[in-house]
Amino acid sequence: MNEELIKEIELAKKHLLDQLEKIDDKRSLLRSPELRALYERIPKIEPDQRAYFGKAVNSLKEEIALAVDQHVNQAESLPPIDVTAPFAPNVDMSNRPSLLDANMGSLHPLTKEIDYICDIFESMGFSVIPSREIDDDWHMFTSLNFPEGHPARDDYDTFMTEQKDKEGKPWLAPAHTSTMQNRVLTKFKSNLEEGNSIAAILPGRVFRNEDVDARHEHTFYQFEGVFVGKDVNIGNLLASLKTFLEKYYGTDIEIKTQPFYFPFTEPSLEFAISCPFCSKAGCRVCSYSGWIELLGCGMIHPNVLKAGGIDPEIYQGFAWGCGVDRLVMMKHNIEDVRLFESGRLDFLRQFSAGGDS
Ligand code: DAH
Repeated sequence: MNEELIKEIELAKKHLLDQLEKIDDKRSLLRSPELRALYERIPKIEPDQRAYFGKAVNSLKEEIALAVDQHVNQAESLPPIDVTAPFAPNVDMSNRPSLLDANMGSLHPLTKEIDYICDIFESMGFSVIPSREIDDDWHMFTSLNFPEGHPARDDYDTFMTEQKDKEGKPWLAPAHTSTMQNRVLTKFKSNLEEGNSIAAILPGRVFRNEDVDARHEHTFYQFEGVFVGKDVNIGNLLASLKTFLEKYYGTDIEIKTQPFYFPFTEPSLEFAISCPFCSKAGCRVCSYSGWIELLGCGMIHPNVLKAGGIDPEIYQGFAWGCGVDRLVMMKHNIEDVRLFESGRLDFLRQFSAGGDS
């Protein structure tokens, strides 16, 4: 066979093998225009060269078919991997993140707890409204009676973006679920005009610039409670929380409070419960004190009601904010809060038994 024809076949082979590495549908190579063109050339070749050329084209096709088979078999024999898992393919091929069966998944322990908490409050007549994960100065501070430059703003170690809102203030990652109070008051104040009350639970993820250790996370969960109506007093606040907590822990609970300061409540209280795990006998969970400090609460400050368009001379309300992570840590004896955000399957699998109920 003359040199030009040999070269032609060699060139086509090189091109086809190159393509094999690049394309997804490897088998389509056997129907490629390059191969077809070679076959179409056969009848047009000089008679003395035709048989050789035909054979060469056939063996090229066989060679490509073999290479295609090898590639396809190799790809099919690789176990599927979890492409969402943290994994550096160029560094560590020995530790491939294999795909898990979908039925091994379950709700995160914090999600389960929030669902459980919300179920109880819904049974008590509260509506559930999840909080936001990006917010503004008005909702984080000003509407909650933190005046500009007030030192209490610093207590909230708030993450801020460089981008500014239309007031020229940075957007921020909410440092508490109280950011939702103004929205709830504004949205539901018509309930009050209709002679009803406002009752809402606001669960959500919050963020603070914390030095992270076993007890402190930069990202954690809270649920806020807001109740507004006529003739509402601090006894209603304490009774609502006690009712919730007795349902939540499934046991009788004693409560005690002491004065505290939050700009958005007056009076403000720190709220503690008798240890539901040892009934005040003293155990590891309550540090052998018999009591657990649980949350902050109080009567909603008149300025906060006013910022929501509600007349504090006519209506009163109470609110609280409670951390979810700590509730789950106490319930399951978890000693390090960082496990929640770690994505560690050995940790999470301990909560998957029994499905996601
Ligand atoms: N937002 C407060 C915090 O994260 C908790 C809190 C205290 C919320 C009292 C309230 C409240 O609604 O009334 O520290």
